Amino acid sequence: MDKMLVKGGTVLNGEVATSGAKNAALPLLFSTLLAEGEHVFHNVPILKDVESTCELLSYLGCDVFRDGHTLKIKVKKPAETVAQYDVVRKMRASTLCMGPLLTKYGSAQVSLPGGCAIGTRPINYHLEGFKALGADIKIEKGYVLAEAKKLIGDTIIFETPSVGATENLLMAASLADGETTIENAAKEPEVVDLANYLNKMGAKITGAGTSIIKITGVNSLKPAEHHIIADRIEAGTLLIAGAITKGEVTVTNCNSRDLEALTIKMKESGFKLSIDDSSMTIHKTSGWQGVDITTAPHPAFPTDLQAQFMALMTLAEGTSVISETVFENRFMHVQELSRLGADITPKTRVAIVRGKNKLIGAPVMATDLRASACLVLAGLVAEGETLVNRIYHLDRGYERLEEKLTKIGANISRFT
Ligand code: EPZ
Repeated sequence: MDKMLVKGGTVLNGEVATSGAKNAALPLLFSTLLAEGEHVFHNVPILKDVESTCELLSYLGCDVFRDGHTLKIKVKKPAETVAQYDVVRKMRASTLCMGPLLTKYGSAQVSLPGGCAIGTRPINYHLEGFKALGADIKIEKGYVLAEAKKLIGDTIIFETPSVGATENLLMAASLADGETTIENAAKEPEVVDLANYLNKMGAKITGAGTSIIKITGVNSLKPAEHHIIADRIEAGTLLIAGAITKGEVTVTNCNSRDLEALTIKMKESGFKLSIDDSSMTIHKTSGWQGVDITTAPHPAFPTDLQAQFMALMTLAEGTSVISETVFENRFMHVQELSRLGADITPKTRVAIVRGKNKLIGAPVMATDLRASACLVLAGLVAEGETLVNRIYHLDRGYERLEEKLTKIGANISRFT
């Protein structure tokens, strides 16, 4: 099991570039199943989850060629439209192959994803959406069997905005007969990036990025080429790395407007930031104030930055109240931060963080992708050494994070 040893006390200074967005890349790669032929993607991050997605696409008959950050996907009719349990259990986003397979080939057999560390993460909104478009859905032996001769456009209203369900239904509706309206749609930038690519392929989608998206079905789509948007969660993580070490760090290649919920909160906490369209600089500081955050669907504070922001608040002046409204169990990092001396009282969906003036390094355990990033950030400032175990979680969503942080002054080594 890979571990990461972080030696605290260095101040980060310099410039670091953001990679392509994991949560845009995954749905984009699955959308290729909608159009046979060769798709080309640039700025594809080198991540475990992208590798898992390419494995599943190869299993479904695609040929995948990677050249650095460019991926070419040659799609042809799959021998069978099945996504096996052992693939889906590793990566829940595999459920995003359901919409394309169902609408393009009339059937999809996908293992139910099962829960994960941060919550049960059901897919009922996805299945209700497919049913609304006329699909026949059965659940047998842990698999969803979805069938439809031809999907028929209709109106779908989500109880709460769901990124994955919005993406799955966008793809399914793109080849349906007639008009589909998705109401209470997710507005995340990754949803917009997917809609932009679908339109490049010939789809007719309007309203992506708002809560009402309209899709007029077309008969077929053609492969295209696309540059994947920057990873706003990685950018936010890198910005917090500069902030927590009281350094001066510029994060480049990012869409700063996608991170306004974070930068507004950091300014409220007393940080000085310089922001332009594609870069953000955090300036040196002597200290910061505790501020309250509540995570919610975009454009509110992203749940994927909650753990990282909590690490920052453990060293703030005063108390912060952190409310997690998206997932029911996304405080697994609290116990680990407490091992470093943080003073946090977790309740059901709220954690009270009382700022301390220091953390002390210790061995800790990563439990999920963003919790592992939070522990690395805490290790950057904890006195002594912090050994982060199960660091494979980090590799799912961060491209060479230790290299990027070392380049701007961190003291990090990885070993097995
Ligand atoms: C996406 O997950 C992201 N993953 C997650 O990032 C992110 O945390 C999440 O959106 C919220 O922003 C990818 O894009 C690959 P949801 P997704 O459907 O689509 C409930 C990371 O760290 N729900 O928006 O699975 C669900 O349980 C990962 O990069 C249902 O109840 O999230 C959750 O409470 C973690 N039924 C809420 O909605 C459904 O059918 C939001 O989930 C679907 C979702």
